[in-house]
Amino acid sequence: MRVEVILSPDEVGHHDLCGKTCVVMDVFRFSTTVLTALEAGMERFFPVNDVAEAQRMKNENPKYLLAGERNAVKIPGFDFGNSPLEHYGKSYTGGELVCSTTNGTKAVQAAQGAAQVVLASLRSAQAVAAFLERSGRDVVFLPAGLEGKFSLEDTWCAGLIASLLAVREWDDGAKAARLLYEHTPVDALVDSAHGRRLQALGLWDDLRFCLECSVSPGVVIWEPQTGWGALVRER
Ligand code: MLT
Repeated sequence: MRVEVILSPDEVGHHDLCGKTCVVMDVFRFSTTVLTALEAGMERFFPVNDVAEAQRMKNENPKYLLAGERNAVKIPGFDFGNSPLEHYGKSYTGGELVCSTTNGTKAVQAAQGAAQVVLASLRSAQAVAAFLERSGRDVVFLPAGLEGKFSLEDTWCAGLIASLLAVREWDDGAKAARLLYEHTPVDALVDSAHGRRLQALGLWDDLRFCLECSVSPGVVIWEPQTGWGALVRER
C-alpha cells in the first residue's frame, strides 16, 4: 500500500485521488462529531458548504436536522452546533443530519474524486486502520486543516493511522506525519491553533473527548454519488 499525506488542504489539487481511498480528518471537531452522532443512532449525514444550502434542504425536507458552526459557535437557527458532546450518550432512533462547518465539510467535498471516502478521528484511528488494511487500496490522507492551512491535530491523526498500516511506500507528507506522531505527545495537540481557539471558548471537555485514541469501533464512509455518509462498524 502506498500512503500519501496532504499537509495543507489547499494542496489537494496536487494529489491524484483516482482509484484510491481518501481519508478525511477533522479531529477538532467535525469528524469526531459525525462519528459520535452516528454512533448515538443518527442514520446519516450530508455535508454542505454554505448555510443557505443547508436551510434550503431543510425547507424542502423539514425532517432534516441542521448541524454546524462558524468560528466554532453554533449557527443560529440550527438544531445542533458542532460539539461531539451534544450527541455522546444519546440514543437516537434514526435522524438525517445536514452539516455545515468551516473546514470539515469542505474537506469531505474536496475528496469526491477518490474511489472511496472515509472520515477518521483519533477516536476511530484503529478501526479506520483495520478498514484500510482490508480494502488494500492506496491511501491519501486529507486533513481538513484550518482555513486552508496545516493543522497539527489532523496531521498527527494521519501519522497515527499510517503507523498502524503495512505501508510499502510513504510520500514525504506521510513521513512527516509519522515523525510528528512519533515525537509529539497527544496532549500537546491542545496547543494547536484550533485547539487554542476552542480553549478560548471554554471547550476543554470537547478537546479531551476528541483526543481519546482508538476508543470507537465505528468507521464513517461518505458516498460522493449520493452526498450522504453513514457508519460502518469495524473492529
Ligand atoms: C470545522 O469543521 O471547521 C471544525 O470542526 C470547527 C469546529 O471545531 O467546530
